[in-house]
Amino acid sequence: MTLETVSTRPIAGQKPGTSGLRKKVAEFARPHYLANFVQSIFNALGDCAGRSLVVGGDGRYYNRQALQLILRLAAGNGFARVLVGRGGLLSTPAASCVIRKYGLDGGIVLSASHNPGGPDGDFGIKFNGANGGPASESVTAAIHEASTRIDHYLLCNSPDIDLDRSGSHQLHNTTVEIIDPVEDYAELMASIFDFPKIAALLGHKRFHMCYDAMHAVTGPYAVEILEHRLGAPAGTVINGRPLEDFGGGHPDPNLAHATELVARMNSDAPLAFGAASDGDGDRNMVLGSGIFINPCDSLAIMAANARRIPAYADGLAGVARSMPTSRAVDRVAAELDIPCFETPTGWKFFGNLMDAGRITLCGEESFGTGSSHVREKDGLWAVLFWLNLVAELSKPARTILREHWQRYGRDYFTRHDYEALPAEQAEEVMAALRQQLPALAGRSYHGHTVHSADDFCYSDPVDGSVSAGQGLRILFEDGARIVFRLSGTGTSGATLRVYHDCYQRDPALLEQDPQKALASLIAAADELAGIRRQLGRQQPDVIT
Ligand code: G6P
Ligand code: ZN
Repeated sequence: MTLETVSTRPIAGQKPGTSGLRKKVAEFARPHYLANFVQSIFNALGDCAGRSLVVGGDGRYYNRQALQLILRLAAGNGFARVLVGRGGLLSTPAASCVIRKYGLDGGIVLSASHNPGGPDGDFGIKFNGANGGPASESVTAAIHEASTRIDHYLLCNSPDIDLDRSGSHQLHNTTVEIIDPVEDYAELMASIFDFPKIAALLGHKRFHMCYDAMHAVTGPYAVEILEHRLGAPAGTVINGRPLEDFGGGHPDPNLAHATELVARMNSDAPLAFGAASDGDGDRNMVLGSGIFINPCDSLAIMAANARRIPAYADGLAGVARSMPTSRAVDRVAAELDIPCFETPTGWKFFGNLMDAGRITLCGEESFGTGSSHVREKDGLWAVLFWLNLVAELSKPARTILREHWQRYGRDYFTRHDYEALPAEQAEEVMAALRQQLPALAGRSYHGHTVHSADDFCYSDPVDGSVSAGQGLRILFEDGARIVFRLSGTGTSGATLRVYHDCYQRDPALLEQDPQKALASLIAAADELAGIRRQLGRQQPDVIT
């Protein structure tokens, strides 16, 4: 096994977005593309000799080839130890768990999250640091900077490793260990939740649930935890086998894409509880019978009831949400008298707050919730949290949701996405709106008068770093809000996201369809940004 120095040149566009570098598979498969980026990660880290890593992915097309190359690069760069999930699999939260449990220096997760996979689909690569969380803005910038200066990478000329058998391999000075991808994570879950109580619920004759793994990475995790450890009947987990193209589906847990789950929930024998996760297992969707639990409400309900879960019995240090997420959790935090932080979109912003012990729970409207047990959002954790609550309160999920609204009021929320817009056109619309912001206060749109408007800028309270330009916020005098931002996770054109929320206290008005409750705000957003006028779009591509 020889070590080789391969000459290369910078490849434009290796700039990580909201969550790592995401591109079409064809782009990643270009000569030197992946090697350049991985070497740039290592260059940003500094001397890699003697360091340790974990590597795994969501099993999508190109996962295995990419892994073999990353192992050669890690050996070329002198890492002492690299752990790899068997089969090349590791969910994003499980990778975070492994980094923390074994005190590794970091990890590489191969995933494009909820984006479709396959030869024509997307691929992605994310780097997490020693705390188990996504690389901070400064590390991300250093990786990108390294990618613009790269002139060689270091490779160990070793044969492919058998990824499907547990065991150790020696690549030059690097020990590669193939580990069980589920075991450490399952143990962590058992240490957080009341497994005997959840097992009793799942064993109850009248409680029927379904978990849709969407042919993505959580299948093996959900089968092991829900069916094997908690005794749910076989078949509780559907689409549980990870497939390279996710069975042709779109592994995004929402009402539009988790179609099989939605059909089962509404079948002749309706289920009490349904849940789904995304490609890499960090997102979740939770459904009660006949009801969809919005992720913003889910976070608020978790915060309000956290003390009922063994790991959070002593209460929460604080909570955080991304700026576009509704303010439902803020109301709970105020009542609990704990801090509530508002961060930009992207999980990386929660890490500092967790490391500093300032928050325990956090979440985003984009179907992500998590806690300080790892440094990633965690889909299956969220599902277990809900199951534990249902078991503990002896109430169906839908009742828990309704009682929460009765007590705190309801923050109606909806996000409208306009996808595949020409990037320039989307930038123009945002720029025009940004220019108008200072003049908006006092103006009325469809019955809502603007109180204030700004471009969200976040100052990290822990390290003082500043992230500007994080979304245009328009706050109205009646408490309603509209946020406009461009997605940082797409791979073709631009996606405009428009977030609408308003608060309702009247007990008689808590059960409306959000699209109806927010209709005037949706019209106001169209007028403000000229969505129909300037973008020529009559309706959004996706509504969540
Ligand atoms: C990923 C990130 C999240 C983020 C979401 C949407 O899932 O991990 O933190 O909220 O993408 O990001 P986007 O920039 O596309 O709105
Ligand atoms: Zn994901």
